[in-house]
Amino acid sequence: MKFLTFDPQISPGNPVVEVQNLVYAYTNQEPVLQKLSFTLNAGDRVALMGATGSGKSTLLENLIGLKQPRSGKIFINGIPLAPKTLPQVRRYIGFAFQDANDQLFMPTILEDITFGPRNYGVPPAVAIDRARQLLADFGLEAYANRSAHELSGGQRRLAALAAILALEPTILILDEPTNGLDPAWRRHLAQVLLKLPVQVMLIASHELHWLGKVTQRALVLSGGRIQVDRDIQPLLQEKDTLDQLGLPVDW
Ligand SMILES: Nc1ncnc2c1ncn2[C@@H]1O[C@H](COP(=O)(O)OP(=O)(O)OP(=O)(O)O)[C@@H](O)[C@H]1O
Ligand SMILES: [Mg+2]
Repeated sequence: MKFLTFDPQISPGNPVVEVQNLVYAYTNQEPVLQKLSFTLNAGDRVALMGATGSGKSTLLENLIGLKQPRSGKIFINGIPLAPKTLPQVRRYIGFAFQDANDQLFMPTILEDITFGPRNYGVPPAVAIDRARQLLADFGLEAYANRSAHELSGGQRRLAALAAILALEPTILILDEPTNGLDPAWRRHLAQVLLKLPVQVMLIASHELHWLGKVTQRALVLSGGRIQVDRDIQPLLQEKDTLDQLGLPVDW
């Protein structure tokens, strides 16, 4: 159900996220991302895999303009990412940080979830109705008036996701969304994500089997580059290939 009037008009198969020769280095360090390129098209559900420290979070934070590349270009719906285009580009993207604490800052989680829509002019009563529906979707109705630090780690993650989905993003970027979730909630989250009408989904995670249920395509980051870009299902069968990329399956 749409309650924000927002439609970027992208046809299936058209490029939504384009990354060209991206180089990113932390201060006084060798580049973490080294001339990395890929394109995500409308309809793509993509897994971002890579060993611990391979640069997944760094890449995602470049995509939403939280980090500025040393060189290279990023286009979102054809718009070059730059300081002056950031407000426009951010409107398309829902981003969940690896640490949900970075996302929740209001006195209650109900206010965390209504904050974004109210900023975009949604009437308070409508925003609250929608927030209550999202809280119900994530089993958090009873916690609406609690602050995030009174929730469990898994509940915080679900509340952060609810706050992101409240903005009805067309590009959803999630950094380790299953962290802290038990198997039943991991399954529920997969079911919620599979039903979302977003154009592009990019999910960084170490849970390879879970990624296999939610995404179709895998990007593997290693040595600062995308070393693999292919369908996820056959890749998950190639245990030796994954092991060589620092991704042993079933561990
Ligand atoms: N603020 C920082 N300053 C300096 N180096 C950093 C900083 N943040 C991350 N790094 C380094 O950049 C590299 C990539 O880190 P990043 O967090 O992007 O990895 P990741 O693939 O997301 O790892 P994980 O699977 O543990 O989440 C690592 O070597 C890390 O030590
Ligand atoms: Mg990370």
